[in-house]
Amino acid sequence: MILGIETSCDETAAAVARADGAVLAEIVRSQVETHARYGGVVPELAGRRHIETIDQVVREALTRAGIGPHELSAVAVTGGPGLIGALLVGVAYGKALAYALRIPLFPVNHLEGHLCAASLGAGAVAPPFVALIASGGHTNLYHVKTWDEPELLGRTLDDAAGEAFDKAAKMLGLGYPGGPVIDRLAGEGDPERAPFPRPYPTCEDLNFSFSGIKTALLYYLRDREAEGRSWHVPDVAAGFQQAIVDVLVEKSLFAAKRCGVRDVVVTGGVAANSQLRARFEARGRDEGITIHIPPVGYCTDNGAMIAVAGARLLREGRVASLDFEPRADWVIGG
Ligand code: KG4
Ligand code: ZN
Repeated sequence: MILGIETSCDETAAAVARADGAVLAEIVRSQVETHARYGGVVPELAGRRHIETIDQVVREALTRAGIGPHELSAVAVTGGPGLIGALLVGVAYGKALAYALRIPLFPVNHLEGHLCAASLGAGAVAPPFVALIASGGHTNLYHVKTWDEPELLGRTLDDAAGEAFDKAAKMLGLGYPGGPVIDRLAGEGDPERAPFPRPYPTCEDLNFSFSGIKTALLYYLRDREAEGRSWHVPDVAAGFQQAIVDVLVEKSLFAAKRCGVRDVVVTGGVAANSQLRARFEARGRDEGITIHIPPVGYCTDNGAMIAVAGARLLREGRVASLDFEPRADWVIGG
């Protein structure tokens, strides 16, 4: 049994998985209420909330799994990237628990955790595949040849896709986090009635850029306001969302063709987006590429992906050590 702990941003999460990767129990405690009134995550508050919550969350996960701490054979904890004050809480807790129980502790890279979430859905996926991780802090495309060897093909040069959703929602007065509310409103709107330029669409370059579309939205709203015209928020949400979704889908499929793989994994908070999921499935079918998107709860931050990543490290007989520090900027794949 492996305990997975995740505290890299604004979710305090823990899960128990078996060594074969089956998830027995998981708890995710969101801090959205703490940060909503500030319009984004306040790092210092995130760290404090993790301290208040972590012990309770771990105990609940163990209770739900029907085991006591002594039945654990390892602890896996997110070691980075993320907010340093938030990471420190999970890492300190994980170290203390592993030391007290005399069991190994595995630091897990948060992005590798998101990749591992691919095997939490229906049907396992094995390398080689292309993976898109689109979250509030990252938009990365990888060629995963083996689990240990993700090669970075492209990344955002400025804002992450989730950050673009969050900033757009702020401009439209829709609150935080922006992704889920834009997703919901877009379902009631017509993207053709508020078309936005595709941000950085050249497929030959697998990097992304989402700061331009944010400015396009700002000008759209400002021009309309100056002309005394109103706007239909669902149409704007739909147009904005479609521009981002199109670029994420087309670049990922292009990357798959370039790498000669037939499987694409899509994960991270933005992979919870309903339009993104539908468009990936449809375009994947057109191109003969199998799309793997975890269930929504495994796209956003969770402890199960960390426990499953830890289970793999344990199976591979990796050496674990208490002697590591969390790293806010821990990159994988170059
Ligand atoms: O992976 P995640 O939970 O945390 C990070 O590692 O960043 O991703 C959070 C991001 C936020 O920017 C949020 O707005 C976005 O994922 N998100 C969505 C949706 N649900 C969450 N973006 C678009 N559509 C959604 N349904
Ligand atoms: Zn994440």
